[in-house]
Amino acid sequence: PVNHKGVKHLLESGIRTLPPAYIAPQDDTTVTQPLITNPTSFPIIDISALDDPNGRTAVVNAIISACTNGGYFLVTNHGIKQSTMGDLLKAVETFFDLPLDEKMKYASDEDMAPVRYGSSLNTNEPQPHHFWRDYLRHFGRPVIAESCHLWPSTPSNYTELAKEFLETSWEISMKLAGALSEGMGKEKNYIEGTLGEGLQTISCNYYPPCPQPELAIGVGAHTDQGGISILMDNHVDGLQMKHEGKWISVPHVPGALVVNLGDYLEEVSEGKYKAAEHRVMVNDVKGRISVAVGNGREIKHYGCGHLVLRFV
Ligand code: SIN
Ligand code: FE2
Repeated sequence: PVNHKGVKHLLESGIRTLPPAYIAPQDDTTVTQPLITNPTSFPIIDISALDDPNGRTAVVNAIISACTNGGYFLVTNHGIKQSTMGDLLKAVETFFDLPLDEKMKYASDEDMAPVRYGSSLNTNEPQPHHFWRDYLRHFGRPVIAESCHLWPSTPSNYTELAKEFLETSWEISMKLAGALSEGMGKEKNYIEGTLGEGLQTISCNYYPPCPQPELAIGVGAHTDQGGISILMDNHVDGLQMKHEGKWISVPHVPGALVVNLGDYLEEVSEGKYKAAEHRVMVNDVKGRISVAVGNGREIKHYGCGHLVLRFV
């Protein structure tokens, strides 16, 4: 039986202080961590020239450099329309605003459930704690045709928008994988060739405003387990990447997507490229929404690499 109703529901029940189950270990929260917010230190790569024989080399080199250094960057001119991105974020917001009963239709404790509305319990710590986040998670590969009828029916445009975002994210990832394969001195389709049918997940995340943001964490520090993660958000701060021991807030660039590498990419490149450690902070003013697509291959578990989570 699924009995976790989500953080948004908890908040709407009228809490003013954080229930102890949501208090994160102090090391995990901002206070003890240095922070750089200078956006100019964050790589931004325009990938439109990847298909142009004259422009390709410069773009490939920029991708290789970002992935060798921190394993993260922003991409622009990636081919996903800004209107599609905005519409999908809006559809996700509508989903989380649905009455609880409606969302609970998609609730599951199963890791591999074809669709899951839930919230995470971090059992990695001596004192397990919940993250301040609700999510809706399902697959894009390998089973899209068999499972998309299980995706939320409200709002009615969700399925179509999610499909478009999944398909284009996969195409972008494979273009990036082509550049990264070249950087390893291999054929362009080398990494793609190791993926088989591929495993693709989409996580629609909602981090409600938090009454005591300094005590909670949206998602603790982790690397993604898959290959190439592609993410967009509603430009509410929260996502941070770790670089040389410091946390860097991901800047908001209209129309850009956030890319970060996961454990599989580090492994397949024999350590040349880095899986980016990241986390999500919460605030007490405005809810953060993000849509993250993991593009990789079938492995025993999926989701978060250096974090063992129970989905509840
Ligand atoms: C995640 O890393 O799992 C979510 C990232 C985000 O919400 O920005
Ligand atoms: Fe992640």
